[in-house]
Amino acid sequence: MTVRIAVEGDDAALLAIERSAWDAASGFPSYQDTLKDSFFERSGPEAHLVAEYDGALVGYLRLQDKYPFPEGAGVLTINGLAVAQEARRLGVASALLDAATAEGHRRGARKISLHVHSTNTPARTLYERHGYVLEGTHPNEFLIDGTYISALDMAKML
Ligand SMILES: CC(C)(COP(=O)(O)OP(=O)(O)OC[C@H]1O[C@@H](n2cnc3c(N)ncnc32)[C@H](O)[C@@H]1OP(=O)(O)O)[C@@H](O)C(=O)NCCC(=O)NCCS
Repeated sequence: MTVRIAVEGDDAALLAIERSAWDAASGFPSYQDTLKDSFFERSGPEAHLVAEYDGALVGYLRLQDKYPFPEGAGVLTINGLAVAQEARRLGVASALLDAATAEGHRRGARKISLHVHSTNTPARTLYERHGYVLEGTHPNEFLIDGTYISALDMAKML
């Protein structure tokens, strides 16, 4: 497995992952309707770490500054992490998180934060294994498929 920064040519493969990786426990069903023809519409290739397994692109992690102002400098945020269904439980997300930690150190960041649905047990387990701890809970934050779910803030100090 290799992890690298994304390039424009990864667009179609990433769009395919984005269309199939999320469900009601991990994401927002309404989000699928907002997807454009380009994965990079929201943010460019440079904001993404991507993983290749056996020559195929199988996952991404979007890593960005959390705040646009200097007082918040040094806090990064994971604004998306997804692995193709057929490549799960192979360590792809773990490799992406390790690469994000390394990238955080390279940038001199002090912390990486993220949001995760309370219902997303796979992701919560993954993050805990990588040293992310719960920083806050937003009870009944979203109504998804008729059920209120909580949003969790997790973070890892670098
Ligand atoms: C969550 C997700 C990114 C995990 O990707 P992955 O490449 O399968 O994860 P890894 O293989 O690196 O798993 C590492 C560890 O995380 C935990 N984990 C991963 N998937 C899990 C699952 N389905 N159930 C329980 N624990 C899980 C395990 O501890 C696992 O180690 P193990 O396989 O040795 O038991 C993937 O399931 C996914 O894309 N889900 C949909 C999108 C999503 O939820 N993104 C995160 C939003 S905050």
